[in-house]
Amino acid sequence: MASVVTVERRPTAHLVIRVVMTVLSSVKKQLLLSFLCALLLCLFTGWRDFQANSSPYHTSSRNLTILLWYWPFGRSFTLKSDLCLDLYRIPHCRLVDDRSLFPSADVVVFHHRELVTGRQKLPLDLQRPQGQRWAWMSLEGPVHNGHMHRYANIFNMTITYRRDADITIPYGQRLPKEAEGHLAEEVPLNKSFLVCWVVSNYRSRHKRSKVFKELNATVPVKVYGRWTKARLTSSALLPTISRCYFYLAFENSVAKDYITEKLWRNAYQGGAVPVVLGPPLEDYKAVAPPNSFIHVDDFASITDLGNYLQQLSEDKKHYSEYFNWKHEWKVKLYTDWRERLCNICSQYNSLPQEQVYSDLDAWVKA
Ligand SMILES: *[C@@H]1O[C@H](CO)[C@@H](O)[C@H](O)[C@H]1NC(C)=O
Ligand SMILES: *[C@@H]1O[C@H](CO)[C@@H](O)[C@H](O)[C@H]1NC(C)=O
Ligand SMILES: *[C@@H]1O[C@H](CO)[C@@H](O)[C@H](O)[C@H]1NC(C)=O
Ligand SMILES: *[C@@H]1O[C@H](CO)[C@@H](O)[C@H](O)[C@H]1NC(C)=O
Repeated sequence: MASVVTVERRPTAHLVIRVVMTVLSSVKKQLLLSFLCALLLCLFTGWRDFQANSSPYHTSSRNLTILLWYWPFGRSFTLKSDLCLDLYRIPHCRLVDDRSLFPSADVVVFHHRELVTGRQKLPLDLQRPQGQRWAWMSLEGPVHNGHMHRYANIFNMTITYRRDADITIPYGQRLPKEAEGHLAEEVPLNKSFLVCWVVSNYRSRHKRSKVFKELNATVPVKVYGRWTKARLTSSALLPTISRCYFYLAFENSVAKDYITEKLWRNAYQGGAVPVVLGPPLEDYKAVAPPNSFIHVDDFASITDLGNYLQQLSEDKKHYSEYFNWKHEWKVKLYTDWRERLCNICSQYNSLPQEQVYSDLDAWVKA
């Protein structure tokens, strides 16, 4: 990543040392003594202020202003006064979409899609206030982002689903359950189908289409969605998936950390065991509940995978082990842009002081 991101830090420390050295060499003892006293006082006052203001988020009680330059996909939401605190318990975080607040914005957020379609433009003619960060935001996989060479040397931070983004906004997250013990829900076992898949955007060149064809040659796969003209209404989606032992959570592109609502919502909330195709096993293990999914790459062949699914469906005990994670974990979905944006404030202090994505295209495709 070092080759992609140019990080310039202000040489504050060096400057301070040089000043101290100069002072030391030029003043008499008395002056030196008073200087040291003053320094100690400064440090003490600074520490006290730091303590007084320390919150889990940022160390100044100043409100951060996050300016959303336009709403993703043109769908806006109300931004009432202290939304981040009221809805998400994130203090000192002002989320705004009023462009006149540009001069006071700490972060200005640009959603990628509208830049590509030309619906929106970057305000490159505006003078950026000192310290303001411009953020690039996208939830799409790299193949859908297009060429990004014209976005070199513009953005200071990335907001996306990747774990190595400055602000990570996953589609979902595992969280430890506070109350231990019993399964909140019974293991769903009223099943009519072995394997189900919901697909609207079918492309034979997608890796997932080849895997589907091979799997369907071994075991029956029930297919829903636009492709097979068996569309599901959004209210029918989860009840339909719950009728299946396994759900194919196949991503449309295979990219680092790209794990979408197909896993987090469709499979986990539908109560089917997800069979995943997407990034490597390690990426799933890092974020998904333990023993909650079956990874396609774990099998020598798709026939082996099909046989495994068949056997598992006939072994209720073994099958229900794929739901044991629910004793200790729950799954949280992220669907609201406002929540994602408020999260900038909770991570603001760990952002690098100065940072420019000199080659965003390379970073996105990494
Ligand atoms: C921060 O914002 C809140 C809510 O809008 C407001 O009540 C508070 O006075 C602001 N604090 C500062 C230091 O501006
Ligand atoms: C199982 O699913 C069927 C629908 O196919 C439904 O009629 C039946 O009530 C369900 N049984 C249980 C125990 O939930
Ligand atoms: C899956 O396989 C079955 C049985 O061979 C076949 O009838 C069906 O058309 C296949 N489904 C798709 C969507 O190709
Ligand atoms: C943000 O990026 C701009 C443009 O490359 C740069 O001039 C500015 O110093 C950066 N600001 C921060 C806070 O990193």
